[in-house]
Amino acid sequence: RKIVIAIDGYSSCGKSTTAKAVAAELGYAYIDTGAMYRAVTLYLLERGIAFDDLPRVEQALHDIHIAFKRNRKTGRNELCLDGVIREDEIRQMRISNSVSEVSVIPAVRHTLVAQQQRMGRKRGVVMDGRDIGTTVFPDAEVKIFMTADVETRARRRQEELADKNEHVELEEIVENLRKRDYIDSTRTESPLRRASDAVLLDTTHMMIDEQVDFVLERVSA
Ligand code: C5P
Repeated sequence: RKIVIAIDGYSSCGKSTTAKAVAAELGYAYIDTGAMYRAVTLYLLERGIAFDDLPRVEQALHDIHIAFKRNRKTGRNELCLDGVIREDEIRQMRISNSVSEVSVIPAVRHTLVAQQQRMGRKRGVVMDGRDIGTTVFPDAEVKIFMTADVETRARRRQEELADKNEHVELEEIVENLRKRDYIDSTRTESPLRRASDAVLLDTTHMMIDEQVDFVLERVSA
């Protein structure tokens, strides 16, 4: 029987790396919901739409087309915005600096949550984000809530950015992570919080393989 695995938690705890590996192991689909919020942010910034201009934001949500496309070369699912792969751009610091302001907008959340529910309706998915176990799939069979020390998270994020030739000071990343965690956990619409039935996973001193095994053990339990 196929299930839904919800992986929520703070920014840059290794959610997506873990979720991807778990999905590959189980032959499940992997859905990175953060990529969808990032795509909306990129769309609004490119068109110069102010985040508080509700009519234009709603029009944008109506027009925008977000999907994941499998890259045959890398085997990875890449974010596609209006038919174009924008995977690298959505990870840039300028998007990270604005995405939490976009994800507080209720209309944005309603649209993306509905799309995520459609994507996972057949189950057999690993979905990562901030509100999967609480709002998107409150009936997920396995729920993990990931956390890690902020310095550790910032170093990991710094390495990922460096791999894509974006060199950012550690302090700037720490500041961005703290700010996003704060906005994400204090917003009124589906804030970041641990579902009462989610298992806590602190990855500060863990290697990726251990994190993946931890989740897989919950699946077979
Ligand atoms: O996971 P990632 O760090 O790429 O997410 C970027 C941002 O998208 C988060 O900081 C949060 O503001 C927003 N987000 C959200 N709900 C989700 C996933 C991401 O609000 N389910």
